[in-house]
This record gives sequence, C-alpha cells and structure tokens, in this order.
Amino acid sequence: MEILRTIDSVRQWVRAQRAQGRPIHFVPTMGYFHEGHLSLMRRARDDGGAVIVSIFVNPLQFGPNEDLERYPRDFERDRQMAQPVGVDAIFAPEAAEMYPAGYQTEVRVQTLSQPLCGRSRPGHFEGVATVVLKLFHIVTPDRAYFGMKDYQQLRVIQQMVRDLNLPIEVVPCPIVREADGLAMSSRNVYLSPDERAAATVLYRSLQWAQAQYAAGERDAHRLREGVYAQIAAEPLARIDYVEVVDAETLQPIERLERPALVALAVFFGRARLIDNCLLPAPAE
Ligand code: PAF
Repeated sequence: MEILRTIDSVRQWVRAQRAQGRPIHFVPTMGYFHEGHLSLMRRARDDGGAVIVSIFVNPLQFGPNEDLERYPRDFERDRQMAQPVGVDAIFAPEAAEMYPAGYQTEVRVQTLSQPLCGRSRPGHFEGVATVVLKLFHIVTPDRAYFGMKDYQQLRVIQQMVRDLNLPIEVVPCPIVREADGLAMSSRNVYLSPDERAAATVLYRSLQWAQAQYAAGERDAHRLREGVYAQIAAEPLARIDYVEVVDAETLQPIERLERPALVALAVFFGRARLIDNCLLPAPAE
C-alpha cells in the first residue's frame, strides 16, 4: 500500500494504475477509521478497481467553534486498518498541499446545502463540496464511495457531479451500526460511557418511525413529533434538529407520498451526532 503525500505523486500513481487498465475507485475520508469507512473500502475493492483512500481533516468544512482541533487523528492506526482490506494507496496531504497560501476558490451547491445540517453549520457544505471537487480533480476516480449516514453530504455531492458534468459514478453505501444500533462515527469517541448509552435513543427513535410508516402512517408532522419526543425524553440529549424531508430535495414535507428521509442531529455532551433513515415511496 503506497502512502502519497503530494498531488503530483497521486497523479503519477493514477497514471500507472490506468496504464495497467485498472479503474480508479476512491474513498474520501477524514481518517480515524471505523467499520463504516472499512465497508466503503471493501465495496470499492470488491467492485474491482485500484482503491485509493484520502485522509484529510478538511479545515474548510469546520465552523469557528467546531471540533477541527480536537477531531481524532491517528495515521498509523488508519494505515494498519486499511492495509488488510486491500487498499492500494492512501493520499494524506498536509493542509498547505490542498490550500496553499493565496487559495481563494469555493464551491457552493445552492439549495441542497441550506436545510438540515446546513442551517446549523453555515459554510459546512461549501467546505465539503470544495474539498471533494479538488480531490476529484486530483484523483480523477471512475467511482467514489460515500456513506449514507451523511445523507445530505451525499446529495450535495451527487448534485455537484451532475451539475458540473463530472464523469464519476457516486456510489452510496449503507450506514454501518454498532450492535446496539448507534451509527458508526469517528465522533463517537467523544462520548462518555453514560452519553454512549443514551445515544442509542437515536436509532430506537428511527426504528419507531420506520415501524409507524410500515403500519401506514403518512403524516410527516406526526412522525417528526414522535421521533422528537422520544429523543427529548432522554436527559443527556440536546436536539439540534429532527426533520422529515423529501429524500431527493431535502425540503420539508407534510405527507409521505414520495421517498422521504427522517434526519436528525443531536448533541450528547460535546459530540454532535447525526443519523437518518429512508422511508421508501408508498406502494401504489
Ligand atoms: O465525510 C467525510 O469524511 C468528509 O466530509 C469528506 C467527504 C471526506 C470531505 O472532507
């Protein structure tokens, strides 16, 4: 597995892979791997490409009072986890390689960046779109793999790829959960044991929404209120948002007539956790 630190070395590596006829399969990450990341890498490998993973804690997507400084980092641990999965290369640049002095350009995917996390994290999705577009230009992947836990991020990137005619297939991958249902996240390390136990309310509340939907509930307001009430009853939880939105546009809905998304962001202590579930279109 090659460790690449510079943009030039990635370009050389990509050229060498293409010369051997290998498609490039790309997994962008901020590191501190967990099973969710590894599942993306396995999928990229099983799809039969040369697998390159980026590790870059992108300063542009963190707000001034967010966790950029304390975001967990452990390159050696990540390297050891990626190697047995069959990753071919890791691109781990310094911030100055990605944003040299004088850097100015920003990418904005207008409407999809505004609701949900975009409302509580202004500038976040501009930071994500900018770094992902840069990474796409550097790596020139045939396919790029994104987890559905960051569903809004996935939609922003799908829209950017479409709008800018990028010849890249974006592959959405399912959320990976701990045994008790908590969605895997690098930020779970911030949780104290009590917060970790309390955070299981998130998946329970989403499962409740899925069950209500399966039983015929189509009123988005009632679903939202039910999820909200369950989380609000947990003393260690501080709700940022709970929303039921159209799964494509991310706009609020009143009735579930098309595929919908129940999305939430909740603080437990200093950890802000996000999770979601898709509700498919009702059968005719
Ligand atoms: O999902 C992440 O880890 C990041 O937002 C990404 C896509 C690597 C961009 O920094």
